[in-house]
Amino acid sequence: MKFLLGGLCLFGAVALSSCYPWLKHVPNITEDELNQDHSHHRREGFPDRCDGLGFDAVTLDEQGVTYFFRDEFLWRGFRAPAEFINKTWPALPDHIDAAFRIHHKNSPEHHDRMFFFKGNQVWQYSGTKPEGQFLIQDKFHGIPDDLGAAVECPEGECQHDSVLFFKGATTYVFDLSTNTVKERPWTGLHLCSAAMRWIDRYYCFQGSNFTRFHPHTGLVFENYPKDARRYFMRCEGQGHGNRTADPSIHNRCSNRSFDEFNEDGLGRVYAFRGNWYFRIDSKRDGWHAWPIHSAWPSLHGKIDGVFSWNKKMYFIQGSQIYIYKAEAHYTLIEGYPKSITEELGIHGAGVDATFICPGKPVLYVIRGNQVQSINLEQTPRNLGDGFRIGHSHVDGAMCNANGIFIFVGTDYYKYHSTTELAGWKNTPEPHSISADFMSCAQ
Ligand SMILES: *[C@@H]1O[C@H](CO)[C@@H](O)[C@H](O)[C@H]1NC(C)=O
Ligand SMILES: *[C@@H]1O[C@H](CO)[C@@H](O)[C@H](O)[C@H]1NC(C)=O
Ligand SMILES: *[C@@H]1O[C@H](CO)[C@@H](O)[C@H](O)[C@H]1NC(C)=O
Ligand SMILES: *[C@@H]1O[C@H](CO)[C@@H](O)[C@H](O)[C@H]1NC(C)=O
Ligand SMILES: *[C@@H]1O[C@H](CO)[C@@H](O)[C@H](O)[C@H]1NC(C)=O
Repeated sequence: MKFLLGGLCLFGAVALSSCYPWLKHVPNITEDELNQDHSHHRREGFPDRCDGLGFDAVTLDEQGVTYFFRDEFLWRGFRAPAEFINKTWPALPDHIDAAFRIHHKNSPEHHDRMFFFKGNQVWQYSGTKPEGQFLIQDKFHGIPDDLGAAVECPEGECQHDSVLFFKGATTYVFDLSTNTVKERPWTGLHLCSAAMRWIDRYYCFQGSNFTRFHPHTGLVFENYPKDARRYFMRCEGQGHGNRTADPSIHNRCSNRSFDEFNEDGLGRVYAFRGNWYFRIDSKRDGWHAWPIHSAWPSLHGKIDGVFSWNKKMYFIQGSQIYIYKAEAHYTLIEGYPKSITEELGIHGAGVDATFICPGKPVLYVIRGNQVQSINLEQTPRNLGDGFRIGHSHVDGAMCNANGIFIFVGTDYYKYHSTTELAGWKNTPEPHSISADFMSCAQ
């Protein structure tokens, strides 16, 4: 969660240019706000977000800036003092019921817009530019008036691009691809006063408490509710996390190496370091180091190899392999972990990295400067010819539509093909992982 170990920063990000495939970003005011140790700012005559009274709505905007709303006030980002809503959105009423940034890829005139709800009305904005005021009935047919909360749910996390609306004890799942509504009596989520999606997690706020839930099933995670003042804002005397651990692990911009990188078929991109992972493709909305086991149950500690194939995600750790079904969330397939010998036909531990290129069944396993290929469509496994690469040791490897990326220490090397990788005499120029993958200022 936020403020974990104080080693993290956020970027309110704007794609600018340059290094494919992850565009560099120009950091702005949200940058490093989590790195600062002192409490958030207050403004005389305005309420304090730490007062425990909770929020009417929480949403991110199209630049990834988070807004907390209560009455006629909003708090921008995680540290700024209260201001009037009408300073940013002059036409909004002075109290809103719900707000979200919509994810609707198939409808460019709606995608990434912000919607604000009050009574039976909904306001649509592109950033701060008004695009219309409607009846909820007309814009989201079947959704009741006087909502408690709402949050977007993109395909991959919900079955299709959807919006979850909350009122009383009922959740309404609005499928944007069909404009149909399904009612869900999700008991763990009654009386949400605000809801938010942050990175890939979903939260329902009840007063100043919040509960993490699964958007597809409505199931609530263990150990909730928690007090938002310890996580989503920095309040005096409140905090969380294990401050004895080495903060350079959680600081994505530190010069520590990463153990592995992976991109899956749904475009989810992850970096792994020790017992932690970062989600890279949601960088616009900020960064956080999450424990690996919070996404991949039963998996703890450093990863040696990771790859995605056939809607599954594979992790090699020592001489064992874990296989997860890669759906909206990851479930460990029964019978795993197994030995890599049984699963892949290779012997021993000591795997440094693995990669598999999209659309091909061939897995590459790197140990030292040796690469072994394995065709995953053949059982028993048929090991292909090995080859050498021009790196004596690599930490991680990944292949996507843009090429093969080899990660060594704080640098990465990009190859266009395995042929180029095997022609090991010409090592390409190194590039900075932290600049190009982790959006760190240099
Ligand atoms: C973030 O940066 C963009 C572009 O520099 C700017 O337009 C925007 O207002 C900034 N956001 C905030 C919250 O400062
Ligand atoms: C904005 O809202 C505040 C509180 O409701 C009000 O006092 C102020 O006059 C409003 N400002 C404008 C420009 O409408
Ligand atoms: C918040 O949760 C705690 C339990 O974790 C509970 O005791 C408290 O009443 C809750 N507060 C609100 C406002 O729901
Ligand atoms: C905190 O981190 C240290 C070092 O990683 C570990 O030894 C200790 O058990 C952790 N404490 C808690 C309470 O998690
Ligand atoms: C990281 O930086 C520290 C201090 O500048 C240095 O001592 C250390 O060797 C560096 N580590 C790596 C992996 O570059």
